[in-house]
Amino acid sequence: MPRVNRTAVLSLLIVSSSVFLLFQLYYYRKYVSKPGPHILSRTGHLSANDVQWQTVKLFLAVAQRFGLPLFLIDTAALTLLSQDALRQRDRLVREPHCSFLCTGRPVTSFALHANLWKYDPGFLLAAEQKGFDLLELRGEDPRLASLDTLSGEAIPLHFLFRLHGYIIQVVFLYERSGNYLWHGALRLKADMDRSFAPFKLLDYGRHAGAYDRPELVLTVLDGLDVRIPHNVSRFLSEQRHAHFLECRYRDARNFLQLYPDDSSPEAVDFRRKVKSLLHLAARTLAHLDIPFWLSSGTCLGWFRQCSIISYSRDVDIGIFIADFRWDIVAAFRDAGLPLKHKFGKVEDSLELSFLSDDVKLDIFFFYEDGDIVWNGGTQAKSGRKFKYEFPRFSLCWAELLELKVRVPCETLDYVTANYGATWSVPVRSWDWKSSPSNVQENGMWPPAEWAELIQVY
Ligand SMILES: *[C@@H]1O[C@H](CO)[C@@H](O)[C@H](O)[C@H]1NC(C)=O
Repeated sequence: MPRVNRTAVLSLLIVSSSVFLLFQLYYYRKYVSKPGPHILSRTGHLSANDVQWQTVKLFLAVAQRFGLPLFLIDTAALTLLSQDALRQRDRLVREPHCSFLCTGRPVTSFALHANLWKYDPGFLLAAEQKGFDLLELRGEDPRLASLDTLSGEAIPLHFLFRLHGYIIQVVFLYERSGNYLWHGALRLKADMDRSFAPFKLLDYGRHAGAYDRPELVLTVLDGLDVRIPHNVSRFLSEQRHAHFLECRYRDARNFLQLYPDDSSPEAVDFRRKVKSLLHLAARTLAHLDIPFWLSSGTCLGWFRQCSIISYSRDVDIGIFIADFRWDIVAAFRDAGLPLKHKFGKVEDSLELSFLSDDVKLDIFFFYEDGDIVWNGGTQAKSGRKFKYEFPRFSLCWAELLELKVRVPCETLDYVTANYGATWSVPVRSWDWKSSPSNVQENGMWPPAEWAELIQVY
């Protein structure tokens, strides 16, 4: 009896454990062996994170098949990535399966290096076959626009792919002649579906943007091969200040029809010198990590005629006094630009001038004061002080003489403050002490301090 019992119990155990094993195998095949995150909600449905991950995965698979040179530019995902080092140090464990790409936002954005990809409609077809809805946005090609030709050609600027309520935004980045990458603004045409995507949530497209060419690395994020900027935090800070303004070629052309450009050898030579001076100044200040913008006549030249005013005798740039460092002087000297004069002091009306090839580079330092920003001027022979006030402004990128440079985003207000409502009419006899609309007398430097505050070399 006990022997029979033992066999029966053994058989029962074998049968029941086999059934359990089979159940485990079945369960594993059904749920667990799916690649990627397996965060099942209680009802057994895919979680929102799963859907986002699956959408990105599917999109990347199609993109890879067609050789799209993509990299991740999604600010939410890149922010998670840049914080990851800190997070690991703090031993805080994030959700393990989809830590970066599942951002909790219904959008994931990628950049496409447009110069490295030959437009292939087969890619769009393949994405549609995988279930993606597509919205393609085109716009004028600014690379063909110049003073001579206004472009009519439309190029792709953005793709929006939608699946299960998730949007993949693909931002086309084009190489521009100033050696930088540019993307266009996203503008819906009248007949387009305004509810296609949560447009307000998109990181890219509110304005055009300009970027330095980032160094990229291939990495694995949440199990997917993705290229990302090598220095994520640098890219993110660039992204916050990427707003780009196209020059107003149409208006500039009208201006130049009224007031044709001087094409004498002297004027051509002057423009060549200004170009090399501006490039040198930009390199020198970039090295010091000091932002600057086009000011006074140089700013007016860009705004009014997309060029240099050939009868102006110098190049004017602005720098916020908070960014001032004394090593500017040494850096320009080492670049071949000796200091010509120094007026004022760091606390008040500082102005530095450097000389190159008989073109002068004037650096005006700007002081913030309530709703205004101002810079100073000094007359060397009399010690008289002047003050020029501007409404507050932010900085945008623009292109001048094949250089990516900053200008005040509110350029019209800036130029109008400086040159008045008639800024569009050339004035050849300009006196910096009386002509500007915003000049104010600002007293005198005490004679005892002249030696210190008025230095001419
Ligand atoms: C990334 O860029 C930032 C800011 O430009 C810089 O301070 C930092 O050193 C860079 N990090 C690396 C690893 O290159």
